[in-house]
Amino acid sequence: MNEHAPIQTNNLEAFWMPFTANRQFKKAPRLLVGAKDMHYTTADGRQLLDATAGLWCVNAGHCRPKITEAIAAQAGQLDYAPAFQMGHPKAFELAARLVSIAPDGLDHVFFTNSGSESVDTALKIALAYQRAKGEGSRFRLIGRERGYHGVNFGGISVGGIVNNRKMFGTLLTGVDHMRHTHDPARNPYPSGELEHGAELADDLLRIATLHDPSTIAAVIVEPVAGSTGVLPPPKGYLQRLREICDQHGILLIFDEVITGYGRMGTPFAADYFGVTPDIMVTAKGLTNGVIPMGAVLVRDSIYDAFMGGGENLIEFAHGYTYSGNPIAAAAGLATLDTYKEEGLFERAKALEPVWADALHSLKGEPHVIDIRTIGLIGGVELEPIAGAPTKRAFAAFLDAYEKGLMIRTTGEIIAMSPPLIVSEAQIGEIVDTLRAVLHRLQ
Ligand SMILES: Cc1ncc(COP(=O)(O)O)c(C=O)c1O
Repeated sequence: MNEHAPIQTNNLEAFWMPFTANRQFKKAPRLLVGAKDMHYTTADGRQLLDATAGLWCVNAGHCRPKITEAIAAQAGQLDYAPAFQMGHPKAFELAARLVSIAPDGLDHVFFTNSGSESVDTALKIALAYQRAKGEGSRFRLIGRERGYHGVNFGGISVGGIVNNRKMFGTLLTGVDHMRHTHDPARNPYPSGELEHGAELADDLLRIATLHDPSTIAAVIVEPVAGSTGVLPPPKGYLQRLREICDQHGILLIFDEVITGYGRMGTPFAADYFGVTPDIMVTAKGLTNGVIPMGAVLVRDSIYDAFMGGGENLIEFAHGYTYSGNPIAAAAGLATLDTYKEEGLFERAKALEPVWADALHSLKGEPHVIDIRTIGLIGGVELEPIAGAPTKRAFAAFLDAYEKGLMIRTTGEIIAMSPPLIVSEAQIGEIVDTLRAVLHRLQ
């Protein structure tokens, strides 16, 4: 086939698209062919304002020269280096840089290629750590309803989104779930943390009492649940989880795949909430979404627990061919430089109230039943059409796309997370377009 042939509907068939209604998409494809800063260019030559940072990942905006140049230079200098029993300088440099911006105590970094791999890596570290320190009876992993932790078996086991779980058999055994914290009746239209619901953290205690704490290795939560529709935590909830974990020898894992790298106006959500986990799962914004890469950060005490055997032995039988890949590491370093040089985390912090006010001005518009904002994240929940779940929200997505705005929908919720370079005028444009979309919706 001529590789330059124009894209036709019948040559879209080969690609089985992820998390996509393939048949519907292929009848009316939405193809992106370019991007710069806050905008995408579509195949039909239109500009789309990016209100989602791609998929929650392009935190510094698109095609930033420092990052693209670093990738090109690295590809020409050292394209690949084996990840096992060999190294290259940039992976070590990036790990040290990550430690320098991470909360105190998270001093070691394990590299992966995605959020899903980071989650499964974190769960394996937790189990292996407990065993290494002589507590192999701690085999249980605790997640939470409505949690999203990627799509690998560990992640869907501790995750709490039914459609992501129901097709895949028995999943991991020994997993239990806390209740989710979403309670719009008590916390309507929240901006920032929720007023009510801290007591839901005691679900961990209930589960620990049921199974006995000595069987529990770790609990994993997203500090702000993103993919399930933007659920900020109740005030004091994460602190309470931390206390319970400390009392009972349970590791606390934060999945910061969305909240990491400035999304909350701080390096990590751990900083925003003032709660440091034992293990922190990251990806996405680490390389500005440009090259796949994830990083799992762990406490010294966890790393040290693995370092007791013979020095010639591999301490942790885990890793990926592309762990710390040179081009990804170069992209990561250039991304961290860009965040720092442009003060993007501080910028996000300054914009948080502007973003919150703008989004909350949609209260009272047609079909809107709740709005939730925190950091530079926002969710607008729509009343579902009776008998046609998710149809209205998806119609909003399609209409926004036609009108030059990229949003994302999950269930009945419009979820947004613009690049941290977004201007106040562009925040206004996002909300104006959304308002017009809401008025046109059936
Ligand atoms: C909280 C969280 N964890 C894990 C993942 C999975 O990341 P990936 O799609 O890179 O595997 C995501 C993706 O959106 C996420 O939001």
